[in-house]
Formats: sequence, C-alpha cells, structure tokens
Amino acid sequence: MRPIKALVLAGGKGTRLRPITHTSAKQLVPIANKPILFYGLEAIRDAGIVDVGMVVGDTHREIEAAVGDGSSFGLKVTYIRQDAPLGLAHAVMVAGDFMGKEPFVMYLGDNLIMGGISDFVGEFQKNKPNSQILLARVDNPSDFGVAELADGRVVRLEEKPEAPRSNLALVGVYMFDAEIFEAVGSIEPSGRGELEITDAIQYLIDAGRDVRAHEVTGWWKDTGKLDDILEANRMILETIDRDIRGEVDARSRVDGKVVVEEGAVVEGSVLRGPLVIGRDSRIVRSYVGPFTSIYFDVTVQNSEIEHSIILEGSTVSNLGQRMERSLIGKDVEITKSATMPKAYRFMVGDASRIEVP
Ligand code: DAU
Repeated sequence: MRPIKALVLAGGKGTRLRPITHTSAKQLVPIANKPILFYGLEAIRDAGIVDVGMVVGDTHREIEAAVGDGSSFGLKVTYIRQDAPLGLAHAVMVAGDFMGKEPFVMYLGDNLIMGGISDFVGEFQKNKPNSQILLARVDNPSDFGVAELADGRVVRLEEKPEAPRSNLALVGVYMFDAEIFEAVGSIEPSGRGELEITDAIQYLIDAGRDVRAHEVTGWWKDTGKLDDILEANRMILETIDRDIRGEVDARSRVDGKVVVEEGAVVEGSVLRGPLVIGRDSRIVRSYVGPFTSIYFDVTVQNSEIEHSIILEGSTVSNLGQRMERSLIGKDVEITKSATMPKAYRFMVGDASRIEVP
C-alpha cells in the first residue's frame, strides 16, 4: 500500500487552558512527562507514515524547538504557517501545496488516542472513500462536533450543537482525499468565525461523496480542559513500568509503578505510584501519591500531592494540607507563609482558578 502523508494541527489559541497555555503551546503540555503532541506523532509513525505537515501559529518557535525536523520520531516534518487560527478547514487550506493531490490523515495535536491510528488508516487505504471520520460515544456531545448516522452512513455533522442529535462525537483524527480541497474552498465561516471542518465534510456528504465513519474502541481524550488533562494523565500513568534512575535515599519508600528520572533526588519521602518524577527534580520529606506527574527541575518539600501535574521549574513547599487534582504551570512557587497574619497570599495570573477549603 502506498504510504500517505499526515497533517498535524499544532496552531490555535488554547484559551480554555489559560493561564497554562496563555503564551505557550497547549499541544506541549506534558502528560506523564511527555508532551501531548508527541503521542500523536508516535501514533502517526506507528501507522507507517513518514511525511508530516505540521500547521503552526503564534507558538511556532516552541513547537519547532520541541519537534525539530521530526527525525527523533522517525518522521520528516515540514512546518506550515497559519497566520491566524481561522479554523480546522482553514488549516487544511493552507496545507494545500504540501499535500498536493495525495490522500492524508489529519490529526489534531491536542488529541490523545490510546491504541493508535493504524487500523483507522488501514481501513481508509483499503476502502478508499473520499473521507473517513473517527467517532466516539461521549456524555457531553455539545462540546464536540457531532455526527448523525442513518443505516451506518454519515448523514449530518454539526459543530458543538446546543441540541445534539446523537452522542457520537468527532474525534480529532480525519482521513481525506483531494476532494476536501474543493470543500474547504466552498464553505463560509461559522458563527464563531471559523472555517469548520465539520462544514467541509458536510459539503462532501451533500455532494454525494463517500464519507464513512469508524468508531473508536479504546479511550480517547481531547485535552482542551483541565479535567481532561488530569484524566489523560491518569490513563497514561496506569500503563507505565517502574523505572528508578534517580537517587532515592534509604529513608524513602517507593510503592508501585514509579518512574524517577535521571538526576532526580528523593529524600525522606513516600512515593505511591503510578507516578513520574522528572529529571533533576527534588522530593524532600513529602508524599507524592497516585496519578501525579512532576516534570523537570521541580522541588516538592514538606508537602503532600496527589493526582496532579506540576510543570518545570516550580516549587511546592510546606503546604499545610494535601494538594490534589491540580495543574501547576512553569516556575510557580507555592508555599506556606512563615509570617503573621495567617492569611492566603496570592500572586496569580489572569484567568487562573484556585479552590481553598
Ligand atoms: O477534539 C475533537 C474536536 O476538535 C472535534 O469534535 C470538533 O469537531 C473540532 O472542531 C475540534 O474542536 P475544538 O474546539 O477542540 O478544536 P480546537 O480549536 O481546540 O483545535 C484543535 C487543534 O487544532 C488544536 O491543536 C489547535 C489546532 N488548530 C485549531 C484551529 C482553530 C489549528 O492549528 N488551527 C486553527 O485554526
């Protein structure tokens, strides 16, 4: 079978995850200490694809620094600039020259699909429809593109409908042949001002083209929101193997599937997996509990943390109470004040969320 190309979307705004991704790329938020985008790139490689066009926007420098030319993934990555995040169909449009007339898989850089995309890509290559979409049953279809099927065929797609006609959400992986370029060039911007890929696929359906659906069997996450990120972190951590490379002193106890990366130091602490401690991080007289990912250069001292993600360079010390279900950004400092009065004191960025007991 002839290998196809991939189009990875790593532009966009990321406003729903502010302030974590206010200035940085949401696709690079680490899940179990690996950027979300890397899972997608690995899935693409595992499907036998080499040639990747990566759509990037304002955060292109960061994405380019992380992914490079793609060779570390076994891929050949070409960057495609999108001047503004004008929609998924607009991203397809700007990738027209790169794709030529070839069929391709489009992968949204903030989606995580356990089990990869090989079956999906293989089915498309075998049946050769004009488009193939991936669907998953969800409890909150209004947050997604929603598909309506009749006799197993896709008859209608709607982007984030208020009154969804089914619970079948569009997963962020799509297959197209060159017909999609006529579709994206023919549609108008939606109410939210974007050229929607759902409208472009609806155009194909209305023109009598062959659009097929494939249902996801494993789990899938769109990591646009805090709870989804924590859930994805939990799911991935459940699959890790124990691997201790850093230093754990004799006073510490390590239970279960725990990864301590190179250069990390654990002193007088209890680690109860599954969890990962990133390189050069320090855990001192603390408890780190299940489903926690601590990225690199982080210090946790005299504190208890569970079910959380802490990004690079941050410090958590002397917390009087256990911290849980939290996402802490880069270079953040959280500590107990040593002076009176006993009061909360915050220096927090725009659109942050803090819950106190
Ligand atoms: O995750 C699945 C959902 O993804 C689908 O169910 C929806 O039908 C689809 O529209 C999309 O919805 P989102 O609102 O989650 O899309 P978001 O704006 O988060 O963009 C998805 C990815 O594409 C993200 O990595 C950013 C990137 N992007 C987005 C836009 C609008 C671009 O590269 N360029 C863009 O213009």
